[in-house]
Amino acid sequence: MTQDHPLNHDEMLAVLDWYRAAGVDIAVGEAPVDRFAQRPPARVTPAAVAAPVAAASPGSQPVQRAAEAPVLGGDPSEARSLAASAKTLDELQAILGRYDGCGLKLRATQLVFADGNPEADIMLIGEAPGAEEDRQGKPFVGKSGQLLDRMLAAIGLDRTKVYIANTVPWRPPGNRTPTPEELALCLPFLQRQVELVAPKLVMTLGGPAMQTIFDTTAGIIKMRGKWENLAIGNHQVEAIPTLHPAYLLRNARAKEQAWADMLSLKLKIIALGLDG
Ligand code: URA
Repeated sequence: MTQDHPLNHDEMLAVLDWYRAAGVDIAVGEAPVDRFAQRPPARVTPAAVAAPVAAASPGSQPVQRAAEAPVLGGDPSEARSLAASAKTLDELQAILGRYDGCGLKLRATQLVFADGNPEADIMLIGEAPGAEEDRQGKPFVGKSGQLLDRMLAAIGLDRTKVYIANTVPWRPPGNRTPTPEELALCLPFLQRQVELVAPKLVMTLGGPAMQTIFDTTAGIIKMRGKWENLAIGNHQVEAIPTLHPAYLLRNARAKEQAWADMLSLKLKIIALGLDG
């Protein structure tokens, strides 16, 4: 697009309207960047990260050198030692508030740490905060949170009886799925959060949370509704994946499956005597 005069007020509103219709809902910088004038970034491969200076074998593509490799952001081992240093949930929240290793923080309004009862026996783990959660600083307070509250109420639960967190505590721009790097950087903090809450039961919400917590690449449709005994950090816990409320809002017919998972959670609560 060429522009040889400054936009007037109506033109600026029209551009903003167009951006909004195209799904652009955050500004990522003050100055415009001409991406067409840039060279495409080098692709990052696990091999380039793990063995950046290894000699290329005959016939293979040259391996990217460390000095040329794009910076991936924070360091999971630093995240692990920071997370491990937290002795309480308040300390963990404060540490996360200061942590700059995950790029998601740069574009989020605030940290979305948790909601609910830290003493609860049941912990729910979602994917990532959305726009409303980013505004309020609490997980599951938007439309999918309202559905989640109704799902919980249907089996006699509410936020005084569960603790809720997400795989990443900052909103990904435009609500995209967190990248594997972002998940890896945030996982030590989530694991520590689970250790400190020490729930008896965990329910994950949606595919990305299930894949992160169950450490699998399997799909949510195959995995949902099945209990597994998991080690999350140093905490051993029974966990069940279910569908994400946002998915249920788009696919009403899937509510039947989610209802079966909620009943399974209820039966487990009764079996363990956690309903007293
Ligand atoms: N979706 C999530 O996975 N988490 C939230 O907190 C809100 C929506």
